[in-house]
Amino acid sequence: MENFQFCIPTNILFGKGQISNLPGVITGFGSRVLLAYGGGSIRKTGLYDKVKELLSGCEIYELSGIAPNPKIDSVREGISLCREHGIDVILAVGGGSVIDCCKAIASGFYYDGDAWDMIVSHAEITKALPIVTVLTFAATGSEADAGAVISNPETNEKLSLFSQEVFPKVSIMDPEYTFTVPAAQTAAGSIDILSHLMEQYFVPESTYMSDLLVEAVMKTVVKYTPIAYAEPDNYEAKAQLMWASTIADNATLCNGNQLAAFSCHGMEHELSAFYDVTHGVGLAILTPRWMEYVLSDETAPRFAHFGKELFGVEGSDDMESAKLAIKALYEFFESLGVPMSV
Ligand code: NZQ
Ligand code: ZN
Repeated sequence: MENFQFCIPTNILFGKGQISNLPGVITGFGSRVLLAYGGGSIRKTGLYDKVKELLSGCEIYELSGIAPNPKIDSVREGISLCREHGIDVILAVGGGSVIDCCKAIASGFYYDGDAWDMIVSHAEITKALPIVTVLTFAATGSEADAGAVISNPETNEKLSLFSQEVFPKVSIMDPEYTFTVPAAQTAAGSIDILSHLMEQYFVPESTYMSDLLVEAVMKTVVKYTPIAYAEPDNYEAKAQLMWASTIADNATLCNGNQLAAFSCHGMEHELSAFYDVTHGVGLAILTPRWMEYVLSDETAPRFAHFGKELFGVEGSDDMESAKLAIKALYEFFESLGVPMSV
């Protein structure tokens, strides 16, 4: 078992009605708030009005229109707003793109230079504005991790930043807020969750406990995604997926394993950088093909075990079982309506 450091400082408020805690949470950081959101789903669902009502005692400034695969221009705009209005706390209401954008704003606020330079140069981030999130989509785990991914369409780059400083201070996670997510997005989000697990599971050295924990969460995703896809307001399915998204990508399950390379994620970020594809769709296209590419006598037993555990498929030997596993994974993605090529 490898050495590790583990610190998840995000206070998670999970479940129905947790939004009522928002005023207390926000005023703990101050009264000048940057409310950041995406292309308008929160206005349609009524969450925008709810947040404004709850924070009526605060001074609210808004950054709207944060796009999926968030762009550096939104980061720059957010930093300007924070500096102009002396913002105390950033409230991100949305999915991973909104939260990631806010992480870059929160750290860029203290950076002496252009925000893209901060990201490209992997500048050490030692300070960031506090971030609170209201999660509306289960996928990335950004609501309780230290990473953010930002795109620059001018250079066709999509790059990550990491810092303990950008962990959200508090994340409000009410599965009911994900009822309005379109089915295709639900599928893409679940594929992202599954991919985070698979990336950390397909490593040469892992621990017994980590294998069992990851298998449990992968099985949960495979069980509940078709239900959430068909019944968008199934609370139990949406709740299971929401919690799975949080624990899949913040090392909770995989501490002690060999560090994962996240090969499919690296390739997917390049795809998104050039073609702006939805992250989960890119992962669905790449992952079974990556498995085929790395399939060998060495990797086959692990893939075989994966197929047996997740999809109940098994051949006469490890190689045949591994091929059946790859096929089952491909068909699972297809069954969720994912276009398996671009
Ligand atoms: O923009 P709005 O109108 O809000 O619509 C969004 C968006 O179009 C919509 N949506 C979200 N919640 C909704 C909803 N529609 C209806 N009802 C709701 N309740 O869903 C669409 C996708 O949202 P987005 O935030 O882009 O999705 P996701 O959470 O998958 O984030 C993707 C980004 O996160 C990065 C990805 O690369 C991509 O840029 N990642 C971030 C990671 C991290 N910070 O740790 C790790 C991941 O591996 C990933 O790379
Ligand atoms: Zn991902």
